[in-house]
Amino acid sequence: MLVLGIESSCDDTAAAVLDEGRVLASVLSSQDELHSPYGGVVPELASRKHVQAINVIVARTLAEAEVSLADIELVAATQGPGLIGSLLVGFSYAKALSFFHKIPMVGVDHMAGHLLAIFLEQQEIQFPFIALIVSGGTTALFRADDFTTFHHLGRTRDDAAGEAFDKVAKLLDLPYPGGPHVASRSAGGDPEKIRFPRAWLAEGSLDFSFSGVKTAVLNHVNTLTSPVSSAQLADICASFQEAVVDVLVEKTLLAAKQQNCRTVVIGGGVAANARLRESMQRRCRERGLSFFAPAPNYCTDNGAMIGLAGLHKYRKTERPINFTEDVYSRSQLG
Ligand code: KG4
Repeated sequence: MLVLGIESSCDDTAAAVLDEGRVLASVLSSQDELHSPYGGVVPELASRKHVQAINVIVARTLAEAEVSLADIELVAATQGPGLIGSLLVGFSYAKALSFFHKIPMVGVDHMAGHLLAIFLEQQEIQFPFIALIVSGGTTALFRADDFTTFHHLGRTRDDAAGEAFDKVAKLLDLPYPGGPHVASRSAGGDPEKIRFPRAWLAEGSLDFSFSGVKTAVLNHVNTLTSPVSSAQLADICASFQEAVVDVLVEKTLLAAKQQNCRTVVIGGGVAANARLRESMQRRCRERGLSFFAPAPNYCTDNGAMIGLAGLHKYRKTERPINFTEDVYSRSQLG
């Protein structure tokens, strides 16, 4: 089945064409430059930019895949969670394509896309597995039982891990989006130099909290005589990153133990973080668990994961969307 996947939940306009789950083309237009001066996504600017980009991105994706709309058998678009204005652009565009070209359409939960992104490259992963989804808007743990059944195990009570990276970058005067900049500035820094707090919450809890570590970084920076030297910056970035990674890894291993799962998968933008991947890989190996991480371009938002999640949803339900269905801002996976 040829699927067109469309993603516009936040600040990336993305589309992909998949043939039986294999990616033929995946194209993305990033808005990083647009939002960079503000240090975060400005929702109204994001939706306007999606309007400008969507048609061009879909046309380019079809051309790269060497198919036309007449060949597409299913349109899958992100229905939520995300910024309502941004979601509306991709979702309404997909509805129009579906209606005009008489192609069935499904709405996809963005989280399901991140949960299944690993299957864009690896087919041999066994269910059930524990998935840690870490992005700019979410930090959550799930148990995936099959391609459409996901059990929510824990979530952040305040900031998402990516949001903490972005806010720390902002207070250190690093560009937006901050995650990759904090990660690259941490190279050569000492991750043990500053012992930033780790919020474990109640014993056995699979919830997260990252607002404390962010405030601790602010308090630490306020004790320094400015300007912060590049060696100090490296130590702060490395120590902050270590605090976040420690909590993400330990809670994921705890989830695997509690749920008796032997496989761990990560997804979402922060899953591109090299230190997280390295640490998760090492700790999983020590515990005899299998660990899988998507290629970095499939960790961050993309249309391919939405196409794949849409394919599985449609195969299970065989039910195209009702055009009165709307977008939603909070994930419906729990
Ligand atoms: O999944 P994603 O592309 O989309 C949204 O959440 O909208 O994730 C983006 C987030 C941002 O917060 C960004 O700073 C973070 O992922 N991120 C990283 C890295 N690459 C992206 N955080 C830490 N290390 C990275 N290498």
